[in-house]
Amino acid sequence: MHFTMKDEILKRFLTAEGEPISGQVLADELNVSRTAIWKHMQTLKQEGYEFETVKKRGYKLLSVPDKVDMGQLQQFLTTERYGRQVHYYETVESTQLVAHELIRAGAPDGTVVIAEHQTAGRGRMMREWESTEGQGIWMTVIIRPDVAPHQAPQFTLVTAVAIVEAMKSSFKNFTPEIKWPNDILINGKKTTGILTEMVAEADRIQALLIGIGINVNQKIDDFPEQLQTIATSIAIEEGEPVERVHFVANVLESLEKYSDEYVKNGFGQIKQLWEQSSGTIGKRVKATTLREVVEGEAVSITESGVLEIRQANGEIKGIYSADIEL
Ligand code: BTN
Repeated sequence: MHFTMKDEILKRFLTAEGEPISGQVLADELNVSRTAIWKHMQTLKQEGYEFETVKKRGYKLLSVPDKVDMGQLQQFLTTERYGRQVHYYETVESTQLVAHELIRAGAPDGTVVIAEHQTAGRGRMMREWESTEGQGIWMTVIIRPDVAPHQAPQFTLVTAVAIVEAMKSSFKNFTPEIKWPNDILINGKKTTGILTEMVAEADRIQALLIGIGINVNQKIDDFPEQLQTIATSIAIEEGEPVERVHFVANVLESLEKYSDEYVKNGFGQIKQLWEQSSGTIGKRVKATTLREVVEGEAVSITESGVLEIRQANGEIKGIYSADIEL
């Protein structure tokens, strides 16, 4: 989806700071008929934007729906590439599936697929991902970094750092923690999951799909019962509702910054930030991999994102992929 006439109109209202704008001014500025403007205004109203008609002065924007669509997102974005193309849906099965199709169709670096609701959201290890309507950020960012396929798992860690840093600069009432490899916890409960998938040739990544699920505005009752003791949302922890579109923009900025940093300068800075925010390093953990259970103290992550666990006998074991219990 590119900028449409409707998005242009919306942009004028969002930057008018509550002042009315007349249909004639819009028509002149955007070089279309007043009837065309009127039609777009009807569509915006249907989408939940509320306007007041001010006599002789035009339309005044009263309120915007809590949506994360392209028109609003562009107001906040300062990125170069990420989020400059957005495919926005009310409902999809999974944004990952849409992203796979877009990659085949040649979608550029930084393309975002975002939905209000997913009917078959996917988590790691083929699990389901609960994606309640309008309450979270359910998105996939397609990136095309020029790196080798074995570096793909690093982007899960890059993404975790990017989200944690975005959280730290956007919210003040909590400190997020990363749980290796891909969860972000607040006060010990899961608020964010990351699912990285790859489309690659033998020696080159074609694209990565960075799937990001962030619980944002749920109240505790909005989670299914089995999740209520282990999941939380930003709003619960911050103590107030969150404007999702603003936070999406912050996440995309941070993601662009840290993935560029990784591609240019390697893992050094990311590893440092990751370890600073880690709730895993230094703790006793139990890691369940497909083949075995490894228990011990999590001592570090390596340059390639492998978690190192020191077992009781002193031996250090590298874990590539596992479920971790603290
Ligand atoms: C996990 O913790 O298991 C990863 C969860 C990833 C969920 C996100 S929501 C947006 C994207 N689309 C999906 O179907 N999954 C990811």
